[in-house]
Amino acid sequence: MSLAITNIGSLVTNDPSLGSGILGELENASLVIEDGKVAWVGNSGSAPSTDQVIDAHGMGVIPGFVDSHAHMVFSGDRSKEFEARMNGEKYSAGGIKSTVAKTRAASDAELEANFVSLRNEMIRFGITTFESKSGYGLTVKDEARSLAIAAKHTSETTFLGAHVVPEDFAGKADEYVSLVTGEMLEACAPHAKWIDVFCDVGAFDVDQSRAILQAGIAKGLKPRIHANQLAQGGGVRLAVELDCASADHCTHLSGKDIEALAGSNTVATLLPGAEFSTRATYPDAKKLFAAGVTVALATDCNPGSSYTTSMSFCIAVAIRDMGFSPEQAIWSATLGGAKALSRSDVGALSVGMSADLSILSAPSFRHLGYRPGVDQISQVLKSGKTIYKHQDGN
Ligand code: NIG
Ligand code: FE
Repeated sequence: MSLAITNIGSLVTNDPSLGSGILGELENASLVIEDGKVAWVGNSGSAPSTDQVIDAHGMGVIPGFVDSHAHMVFSGDRSKEFEARMNGEKYSAGGIKSTVAKTRAASDAELEANFVSLRNEMIRFGITTFESKSGYGLTVKDEARSLAIAAKHTSETTFLGAHVVPEDFAGKADEYVSLVTGEMLEACAPHAKWIDVFCDVGAFDVDQSRAILQAGIAKGLKPRIHANQLAQGGGVRLAVELDCASADHCTHLSGKDIEALAGSNTVATLLPGAEFSTRATYPDAKKLFAAGVTVALATDCNPGSSYTTSMSFCIAVAIRDMGFSPEQAIWSATLGGAKALSRSDVGALSVGMSADLSILSAPSFRHLGYRPGVDQISQVLKSGKTIYKHQDGN
């Protein structure tokens, strides 16, 4: 079965050899899908004939967003904490513990229902690939079941037993690190692709983080890290030392951190929702781009620091407040996210890539930052199949 999307006003391919700029933008384009993959891209007038056709009516088409950082296995919300922060309280890693208590008390069915509801939001907002972490169980049993639930819905699962030291291990951080690197890792590794650690003030220090990531690597997991969210520290340089796929947050970066990232394979994943919702200072992406660092954007969907599944919102904030150009923001939310997950099959719409895409109700990707807060995702396809269609067909 072949399917063509015709009459595309602006098509983002993310392949500069196909069109203009870093997004390889093509105007008046068509795209043909066969066996779930992009089979042809070019000018509308010369598209080959296909079994089925979707007319994009001159609207924009972009690759599906690749959300490389989310925490979707949890119970409860922390809206009161958000309210207190907006009234002047400071965000701290400690708030995670209240979600841990609620998550431990929830049944598997409750956790999965919450997960699926967030996953459905993501799809509506044009996210076609997403990662999810554990990290709100913090016992062997609760971390393992968190990952088993996530693994039913995504191949990008991350073991984050080292999110914080739980209350039951207060004052015994080293004992907790032994549990995470021993019995907990043993139980979680079969359900996880990645290992992560929150390396920051109030969470884990650099030596503990190194030990945790190395234990995961020895078990066959691939490393990524929460680094430099709350303060400058050694997290980003540890990411480079261990060849992590991504260093996430990067809110507080020194010149040395940027230099280290620039000379590495590690992607800097920025999370605008977290700075927005914790009233933190935004990192300056211009400095990262100027140094040649690969930059991704992700939602960081979690009930504490960034309770959003809207990549379009993150894009708008990144453009307005973090120094991204509209082109850079779209690239970082698509191909950048794919690179942060070491994926070469998603994030672009050149021949051979998975046919994961959104048809917009706007003439081009530029409208995502230009019309913040407006739902402009009209139809979403994954592997060539429609997984969401706006009810009004907007
Ligand atoms: O990525 N920084 C650590 N973890 C989450 C926040 C978790 C929470 O506050 O519940 C984050 O922002
Ligand atoms: Fe996070």
